[in-house]
Amino acid sequence: MCGIVGYIGTKKACPILLAGLTRLEYRGYDSAGISTIEKDCIKIVKDKGRVKELENKKEIKDLQGTVGIAHTRWATHGKPSKENAHPHKDNSNTFSVVHNGIIENYYDLRNLLEENGYKFYSETDTEVIPNLIHYYYKKELAINNEHTVQTFLRVVRNACLDIKGSYALEIISKDFPEYMIVVRKDSPLVIGTCKDEKYISSDIPAILSYTRDFYFLNDLEFAVLKNDDIKFYDTNLNQIDKKISNIEWDAMSSEKNGYEDFMLKEIYEQPTAIRETIGSRISVDNKCEFEELPLTKKELENIDKIYIIACGTAMHAGLAGKNVIEKLCRIPTEVDIASEFRYRDPIINNRTLSIFISQSGETADTIAALKLAKKSGSKTIAISNVIGSSITREADYSIYTHAGPEIAVASTKAYTSQVILVNMLAIYFAEILEKSNKEEIRNLKKEILELPKKIGETFNCAERIKQFAKKIYQEKDVFFLGRGIDETVAKEGSLKLKEISYIHSESYPAGELKHGPIALIESGITVIGILTDKLLVDKTVNNIQEVITRGARTLIITNQNVNYSMFDEVIIIPKVNTFLSPILSIIPLQLLAYYISKEKGLDVDKPRNLAKSVTVE
Ligand code: F6R
Repeated sequence: MCGIVGYIGTKKACPILLAGLTRLEYRGYDSAGISTIEKDCIKIVKDKGRVKELENKKEIKDLQGTVGIAHTRWATHGKPSKENAHPHKDNSNTFSVVHNGIIENYYDLRNLLEENGYKFYSETDTEVIPNLIHYYYKKELAINNEHTVQTFLRVVRNACLDIKGSYALEIISKDFPEYMIVVRKDSPLVIGTCKDEKYISSDIPAILSYTRDFYFLNDLEFAVLKNDDIKFYDTNLNQIDKKISNIEWDAMSSEKNGYEDFMLKEIYEQPTAIRETIGSRISVDNKCEFEELPLTKKELENIDKIYIIACGTAMHAGLAGKNVIEKLCRIPTEVDIASEFRYRDPIINNRTLSIFISQSGETADTIAALKLAKKSGSKTIAISNVIGSSITREADYSIYTHAGPEIAVASTKAYTSQVILVNMLAIYFAEILEKSNKEEIRNLKKEILELPKKIGETFNCAERIKQFAKKIYQEKDVFFLGRGIDETVAKEGSLKLKEISYIHSESYPAGELKHGPIALIESGITVIGILTDKLLVDKTVNNIQEVITRGARTLIITNQNVNYSMFDEVIIIPKVNTFLSPILSIIPLQLLAYYISKEKGLDVDKPRNLAKSVTVE
């Protein structure tokens, strides 16, 4: 995954592009580059390494232009190197391009271009794009030597029609120095607008300090940008209208605000994220409201199966929400990993409701699964944290978590916001269906409203977790155990630990331990148990007893009455309805992963090999 930024305005582009790249570094950080238009020629400064290194380059000071594009790379085609870094230009230095995505047919395109005399200097798929644009440009000029922006647009469009794959592109040209063209297909790109300036980015937070007014492109729509003008075109180059969306996020929410790392800040933002996500949707005495989801009782009665489809942490949020939907709505609900779902020929028809959860709204597998479900007749709902993201444009209905921008690669506040949203969705459906016990729903609503306060109380464990992290940070393996909903939290806790501390960890339903994994338990190994489900707590305690007998060191996260003296460390969290317990029990585990990562001196916000949103398959 890569990040792209663009600027066209009245100020020097370079500092704005560097600031944007720094904010987008979570998307990729093995190389970076900038290209600007300088007195009718294109200049490019790029290299492998981080944005900071780019910023310190001598040549960067020469970039004075007010039109520029920039890129932070996460290598897919070709190793991190200066040659492979973006921007890429065509052989004649007429066009410069940055690209996020993957060109699937780049071998064919490269062959075609080589047959036509073009040379390639990098191993990337992207380098075909400026050359392909130039190929069409040459053809146009041979027929009609007209240099209007329509020519620029036409040749970019022609190139895009040849490209198979995913892309968000920014293109500048020395022959059209006042313009920039941007287009996207299956990769994110947003356009921020002010009076005499236009900002382009892979995500909203990177440019939120400049504007709150954004345009979103659909697949294969083109924007022709000038500092004081934007025109939009469809694939046939008919001009189209686009509405501005006003984004309410606070620009400060994209800054660290005194926290050492974004992840820690985002962990502590969870009470606010949950409060904002609940919004006015829930009150104890009124029916739950989702204006954006106008489903009728008849439509819901027609649903005989629900799929929840997502990847990684978002999928874990789905697992945590499955039981509440089944309990309150009595509709069988299956949770699927998007990359599996899309290839397993799932049974879908017009009686299926498919819910897709994605913080970024740009995860390639989740989007593909959504398209498949929709094509097979399912009603589709997107749950996303990013207004206007791809997934929300594909789905029949979209509902938002209001967690604010999540910058750290490891997801924290988005997860808990997703869990609360699925709970509210279950209540909303149940109230329409008139199926559930009214008192039970009323109690659940009350508990939902109390959650922000209880999350605040849960933070009291931070210091003890920090001390525990000091004891185990050199461990090689950690086990997470739980039953029922606690097992879904075990999965998420284990993922957090792997991601940012690089410690191998496994999560198991506690009852499965004796069917194999217990063979791995030996003296001194750390086992973390989650015990919040009253009905299952004794069973899990028995399983943990088995690992204690084999010498394991244990940490327990619980809100139940258990014999605390059995365990090495016990973290007590507030009592809460079992459906909501993941929102509290995950917090000590997020903090544990964080403090272990710090203890090991790792880059918490940008763990190795990972990118924030996975926009390629
Ligand atoms: C883990 C994490 C990932 C994402 C997954 C889906 O901390 O962040 O597992 O949850 O890549 O991303 P979204 O939610 O953007 O679709």
